[in-house]
Amino acid sequence: MAFGSSIAEDADLLVYDLLGSLAHAAGLVRAGLLTPSEGRRLARGLRQILRDAHQGRFRLDPALEDVHMNVEATLTTRLGPVGEKLHTGRSRNDQVATDLALYLRDALTMIQGEVLAVAAALLEQASAPGGKETVPASTHLQGAQRVHRAQLLQVHASRLLADAGRMGDLRSRISEYSPLGAGAVAGSSLPLDRAYTARLLGFRAPHPNSVEATSDRDPGAEALFLLALLGAHASGLAEELVLGSTPQFARVELDDAFVTTSSLMPHKRNPDLAELVRAEAGPFLGLLVAYLTVLKGLPLAYNRDLQRVKPLLLEGVRRGRATCRVLAPMIQSARFVPGPSDRGEGEATFSVELVDALVLRGIPFREAHGRVARLLAQVPAGSLVRSYLTTERLRQAFPELGPTGWKVPTPLDEPELRRTRGGSAWKEVRRDHQRLQRELGRQRRELAIAQRRWKTLVQRLGGGVRARSKAAKGF
Ligand code: ARG
Repeated sequence: MAFGSSIAEDADLLVYDLLGSLAHAAGLVRAGLLTPSEGRRLARGLRQILRDAHQGRFRLDPALEDVHMNVEATLTTRLGPVGEKLHTGRSRNDQVATDLALYLRDALTMIQGEVLAVAAALLEQASAPGGKETVPASTHLQGAQRVHRAQLLQVHASRLLADAGRMGDLRSRISEYSPLGAGAVAGSSLPLDRAYTARLLGFRAPHPNSVEATSDRDPGAEALFLLALLGAHASGLAEELVLGSTPQFARVELDDAFVTTSSLMPHKRNPDLAELVRAEAGPFLGLLVAYLTVLKGLPLAYNRDLQRVKPLLLEGVRRGRATCRVLAPMIQSARFVPGPSDRGEGEATFSVELVDALVLRGIPFREAHGRVARLLAQVPAGSLVRSYLTTERLRQAFPELGPTGWKVPTPLDEPELRRTRGGSAWKEVRRDHQRLQRELGRQRRELAIAQRRWKTLVQRLGGGVRARSKAAKGF
């Protein structure tokens, strides 16, 4: 019994199950299969359970296998025989598919908002004074070319905005088709108005294929993929926070709330929370792989295997929300500072611009590249390359530069030399910031609409009973 039960994960689906049943009951009245008074009694009973659920007073009995049977049993105990009419024209197969679609719509709305909060924190840091400071952008983790810190922060913001946008897209695709009324696999001989219940539940239309409607778990796979991608992005960001807080880089100071000390060494400030965020990429990927592996090779249509993907999805949602809720304040409260290596005097991160200056004087690129490399190799160990390369020395090495010569940029000015669209010049960085800010605004508006629609839907079906979203509250 314990092995077959899905009670543990179904607790998170209770609210959605009740909303689905409220729509189904209304549909039965519309089809003439229930009298209006029976419909009202069922609605009252379901709303009472919704109220109980809201107050955390509805206990799921594992002996009844799943949330669907639990609700029906309670309803029948409380209302008598009319409770036994609720399942008319319905199967647990279209029921659980409906629950999952509603759950995912709600969950994606919440995660999207939480991802946006992280992106907003990054954009804010990019606009703060620390955003204008210059740091070496790396390739291969070796200092490559100096850029404004904002440009790096904006990469993370851009990735997260894309993640959030994809979550919004997925939500709107899930809102396309309602599984309700697809029955066990082949629809129903009863005169159900599927378009009506679809509308009540905020779907645009009934699912056009009952076999697919009852067995499709692809939206969950897609959600877990989006979470796995979010996990990869969050872990890259967390890794930079971890690296940035080492003395070697010393570019970021995490707030006390996000570091721990050592049980032994009193001087330590360890970035444990960032490390834990970095670690999340693993479980996210594991959940996605587990989910797809359960789906693999299943014959059509509903198979009980499908029960096993539910906890994977719910865990992914929980972890996704928790990750964002830790990251947003961690970024917000971080102090970005110029690190010891960030003075940049010892780094020849302007080398390409010197090559470019020679190219502009007609020297073939490959030759210019070789000559600059040879010059840089001559810089004595221990001397700072920027001060070593005086205008005089450069003129000697490259007479082609002419009488005005070429001046090595300061670490602060260096990014200004690259003015191509999307390049490191401040103007370009700000242009991209505006694009990201616009996208943030667009998604926030889209999200507000989705939230309003959901609230109206819950209020209508729930008859004013408050039903807290149960899309996993995070850790
Ligand atoms: N507990 C089941 C699940 O989560 C509900 C559907 C059961 N359907 C069935 N035919 N046994 O998938």
